[in-house]
Amino acid sequence: MNPQIDWKNLGFEYLDTGCHIRADFSAGKWSEPRVCSGNQLTIPIAATCLHYGQACFEGLKVFRRADGTTACFRPQANADRLASSARRLCMMAPPADIFVEAVAKLVQANQRYIPPFGAGASFYVRPLLIGTSPIIGVHESDDYIFIVLGMPVGPYYKNGLFPVRGLVQEHYDRAAPNGVGHVKAAGNYAAALIGDKEARARGFDVSLYLDSATHEFVDEFTTSNFIGITRDRRYVTPDSTSVLPSVTNNSLQRIAADLGFTVERRPVRWDELATFSEIGACGTAAVITPVYSLTRGSETLTFGDDNAAGPVLTSLYEEIQAIQYGKKEDRYGWIHLLDEVSDVR
Ligand SMILES: Cc1ncc(COP(=O)(O)O)c(C=O)c1O
Repeated sequence: MNPQIDWKNLGFEYLDTGCHIRADFSAGKWSEPRVCSGNQLTIPIAATCLHYGQACFEGLKVFRRADGTTACFRPQANADRLASSARRLCMMAPPADIFVEAVAKLVQANQRYIPPFGAGASFYVRPLLIGTSPIIGVHESDDYIFIVLGMPVGPYYKNGLFPVRGLVQEHYDRAAPNGVGHVKAAGNYAAALIGDKEARARGFDVSLYLDSATHEFVDEFTTSNFIGITRDRRYVTPDSTSVLPSVTNNSLQRIAADLGFTVERRPVRWDELATFSEIGACGTAAVITPVYSLTRGSETLTFGDDNAAGPVLTSLYEEIQAIQYGKKEDRYGWIHLLDEVSDVR
């Protein structure tokens, strides 16, 4: 019954586990989340998610921990962010208890896909909310489907906590100041595909976006927030209306403060980047990715070593992972334990 998975060599890739969770909003109420088999969905061809972008999603992780328990990292924060995305896109979000119950049911139904402790892997959970009413004029949907799928994943970048090279996007913006950059709208990622594709073709690993109004301030990377560390122990991260409030960044700020860093959330000028000793990209998928260089036009700034993460980002990474994998006490109340139940499918 056990899938033949090489846990230690997993990448960050889609895997069909044969089931997902689904809840429906229709006639003004949500159904109970239920386990559905397969990986297909049937929706009207005029669904608002397809034509008008009424689609938003989340990403969170489940960990098999040192003591054998299985736990999800801060699901309430992701439920709250999905609700915020839904509000901005005029959608109906599932209440947080349905969100968390759906995650728990997904994990229950996929026990054999939860990587063992010690493999350096985790189970990535992807909640998705879409408007499904067939409507041809531009208008919000009456009906919504909430899906939660998941799969075991390894490190986002093959080399794990290893410095990458970033390209500053000059010809494409990701989010407008009063637009939807602060929520997890599916369309934000479509907007960034072309810049990322061109960056990859030029040998860069990540793209950094500046504020779209002036290009003077740092916003964030395509799928992660920006962190700058200074030699005088400051943790600096942009305060911008077009940055997604990252759960990882929020958690790292708490940890950094407890490690004695001064945490600064404020506009970060491109001009001041040279003052940072370490730069990181942070998010659920990769946790922390050290950024060795940032290229903007003909200028390239470098930070630390090109073959090892800096000491501060390394200690932040180790600290948050120790909490997630249960090697260290969760002083913050971030760990949501999931019942150990066998595969119920
Ligand atoms: C645009 C963007 N910024 C930041 C993040 C990191 O957020 P989190 O730490 O909640 O995964 C993500 C990933 O969700 C993202 O897509």
